[in-house]
Amino acid sequence: MDMGEKEALNLCGQLLDGRRYDLLVDKTGMVVTPTGEVLCILLKQRLSPELLEVVRPIILKAASQRKVAGGNRGVAAGTGMVQRKRRDGTISKIRGVQRLEDLSDEDFARLRSATDGTFGFLGRSVRAGQVYPCRLTMYSGALPSELRFMSELARTVAEAFKMSYVQKRWEAQFAKASQTAPTWLIRTAEGHTPFTTITCNKSWRTAAHVDKGDLKEGFGVMCCLGDFEGCDLVFPRYRAAVRYREGDVLLANVHEVHGNTLLLKPDGTIPQVGREPERLVCVFYYQEKMDQCERTIEKEHDFINRRERGDAMRKGKAKAKAAGKK
Ligand SMILES: [Fe+2]
Repeated sequence: MDMGEKEALNLCGQLLDGRRYDLLVDKTGMVVTPTGEVLCILLKQRLSPELLEVVRPIILKAASQRKVAGGNRGVAAGTGMVQRKRRDGTISKIRGVQRLEDLSDEDFARLRSATDGTFGFLGRSVRAGQVYPCRLTMYSGALPSELRFMSELARTVAEAFKMSYVQKRWEAQFAKASQTAPTWLIRTAEGHTPFTTITCNKSWRTAAHVDKGDLKEGFGVMCCLGDFEGCDLVFPRYRAAVRYREGDVLLANVHEVHGNTLLLKPDGTIPQVGREPERLVCVFYYQEKMDQCERTIEKEHDFINRRERGDAMRKGKAKAKAAGKK
């Protein structure tokens, strides 16, 4: 079954439910598209309870950095992006997801408990005209032990990725990571992982969306923690869904449209607003273009400080521009 890319993309921003899939994978297995591409691989029970217990509070902290409401992921929030209201009620030029108090009752109920955040490193970016260097994410107050445990989690899921049917994707991602300064890679004493960044979220039922900003040749690597039902990950284009739970590793083509079904209580009933189960998700990825970051944080800051307004963000482009001027 394939409804086609265009029709699947048209679903972006919509909430998905049981009507969007026929096949539900809940055991170790793989879904392949009609053209033979791997859509997702579920690997049951790959993470030890001991490791999960030590990372749980760290992931919770990383995933609680900001509310999804008021953020900038309007498609996955299912609200779209609007010009945000200022505190005084006037309309600002900044577009984003409306704050909780401005959402419809339905969106409020769904997003009230939803938060997200990042762990690891982020590439250069521009926000509201301000240039940010490659950097440690907002979760920069992490203790060395917290970094160590999260790196151990990353190493474990990377190993499952490496030994999987999409090993070629692992190779492409690991090769890209090997061309990146180790400063920006999640690493352990044994070496670096193919990841720069871990996006964490809490109790967020995403609407249909496509992930952006991760390496195209790579693959989505995920795990989740918590005691809940529902929140299955649906790929509506192929009418397939996957049920992954605490301890599992999910490998998925996150460049295909995907989103979650309703998050339910452990007994399968619908939670009251504000009483949603704590479902934590980690998405491990290599953020595109981080091989362009300078070798150290200091050098990266120098690069940004030397850069003049309007200059290219990347060295390669800066050189090309300079060559063009001659
Ligand atoms: Fe996603």
